[in-house]
Amino acid sequence: MSASGSGILQGKTGVIFGALNDSSIAWAIAKAVYRDGGRFILSNAPVVQRFGTLDDLAEQTESRIVWADATSADDLGSLYAEAEKDFGKIDFIVHSIGMGLNVRKKKEYTELNYEWYKKTLDISAISLHRIVRAALDAEILKDKGSILSLSYIGAQRIFSEYSEMGDAKALLESITRSFGYRLGKRGIRINSISQSPTKTTAGSGIEGFNAMFEFAERISPLGNADAESCADYAVTLLSDYTRMVTMQTLYHDGGFSSMGISDSIVEALGAVFENES
Ligand SMILES: NC(=O)c1ccc[n+]([C@@H]2O[C@H](COP(=O)([O-])OP(=O)(O)OC[C@H]3O[C@@H](n4cnc5c(N)ncnc54)[C@H](O)[C@@H]3O)[C@@H](O)[C@H]2O)c1
Repeated sequence: MSASGSGILQGKTGVIFGALNDSSIAWAIAKAVYRDGGRFILSNAPVVQRFGTLDDLAEQTESRIVWADATSADDLGSLYAEAEKDFGKIDFIVHSIGMGLNVRKKKEYTELNYEWYKKTLDISAISLHRIVRAALDAEILKDKGSILSLSYIGAQRIFSEYSEMGDAKALLESITRSFGYRLGKRGIRINSISQSPTKTTAGSGIEGFNAMFEFAERISPLGNADAESCADYAVTLLSDYTRMVTMQTLYHDGGFSSMGISDSIVEALGAVFENES
């Protein structure tokens, strides 16, 4: 991709939620959207303001930061009021938000703390509903707009250490379908990218992340997809080229989701199993 970008998002504006630091998937998405001509407000939870790293991204992408807790309807209402001042109506929303409280605190799935579990679902999935609903209430989203979120294959299959986050991602993907049906009459599409394990703050909070990362790397014919390639894919989904794609979980995973086992894993595990028997 050239440094000057494709220009396919020229004239499009939006809000990008979830850039925390330069490892974040949303950070890479913001850079790619900017490169390809899109303009946006960056948003994240007020509690991360103290880290200060988002200022660098705002400067690089000529954007403004508006802090909003994605679980708060009031914060989201204020955010869209600010977005309206900058852009009038917007073309896209990127939801790149996730947090598993029980996962972080190493609570097994069979022993979930339900208060934390509710918070996990609220932050990681219901926030997508809130973000879309607040945009509809503010009447800020243009017809034919595009909404995007980030998911993981743990929504569909069991990845033992992913635990409650699998439930959160299943709900996120279901909200994507439920809204997709209702927004279709306005030509608005909503999709979820199901991304490879990626070395980010949220990713590395998962116990056994390195094993999941290496396993996926060895099984995927193309290897793991990194944040930059995810960002390039995201650009296409925000562009008019994908105007008839909606309600989908779109695998951006180097082929992982179509694999069973690969030679590399057979060889690695063959040796381990031989030693054990
Ligand atoms: N890293 C991976 O392996 C991987 C794989 C597939 C999908 N994803 C998904 O990608 C998305 C982005 O995660 P990431 O890996 O870039 O990690 P990240 O930690 O950089 O991003 C997660 C973001 O969520 C934000 N957030 C948490 N609570 C919030 C709240 N209440 N309001 C607003 N924002 C809040 C955090 O501040 C952070 O910016 C998440 O949905 C994650 O589940 C990640």
